[in-house]
Amino acid sequence: MSTVLHTPRFTLQPFRRRDVGPVHDAVLTSLPELAAFLPWANENYSRSVTQQFIRDSVSAWHESRAFDFAIRRDAEPDFHLGNVSIWYVSRANAIGEVGYWVRTETARRGICTEAVARILRFGFEELALHRIVVRIAVGNRGSERVAEKLGFRLEGTLRDEVRVGAEWMDHTIWGLLDREWRTEQVRYRTMAWI
Ligand SMILES: CC(C)(COP(=O)(O)OP(=O)(O)OC[C@H]1O[C@@H](n2cnc3c(N)ncnc32)[C@H](O)[C@@H]1OP(=O)(O)O)[C@@H](O)C(=O)NCCC(=O)NCCS
Repeated sequence: MSTVLHTPRFTLQPFRRRDVGPVHDAVLTSLPELAAFLPWANENYSRSVTQQFIRDSVSAWHESRAFDFAIRRDAEPDFHLGNVSIWYVSRANAIGEVGYWVRTETARRGICTEAVARILRFGFEELALHRIVVRIAVGNRGSERVAEKLGFRLEGTLRDEVRVGAEWMDHTIWGLLDREWRTEQVRYRTMAWI
């Protein structure tokens, strides 16, 4: 299985202990935007939370449970651009889920679309998944656009799916099947996302 993935502009690599500083920095500078939709991004976010995330991420890789990648540019290898992850929802049914966030100051430059396109390829080709989903908080237009651009289909609404701060948020669920991926990947290549 590949552990380091490349896109036309970025490298996606598993987290290492020395990533604590760069990840902590990236989260702190993006906290208001992340906190709107991600439960772990709150006022208690600290260096030790980052250390724990990286420890869990390394274990998850070893156990082939979940695959988190740091998004980086070769020219600035210690400048953390964001995370993109894929994990098993059901091994029996070959279903995976993706999650992502991008550093606020580098948002809206196509980073997320390119990173997710590559991790979808990893999910379908290397994990042999049949279906990949993403759950998006209602109102998160940026994330919906990423899913739409990549060809995910909107499948439904999950009520009170995630608690962010004191509020329960509805999420929409989007899916992409392996047979759809086979067609979509041609477009991804034309768009220079993979
Ligand atoms: C949502 C997020 C991941 C998008 O990352 P990004 O790198 O900016 O995304 P891209 O640059 O690939 O943009 C993809 C599309 O979304 C659009 N977009 C991005 N952010 C947007 C926003 N806040 N509002 C409306 N559209 C937005 C882009 O314009 C682009 O569409 P276009 O090609 O039609 O112009 C990023 O803003 C983020 O991390 N947000 C906070 C955390 C989060 O919501 N994570 C996802 C949880 S499901």
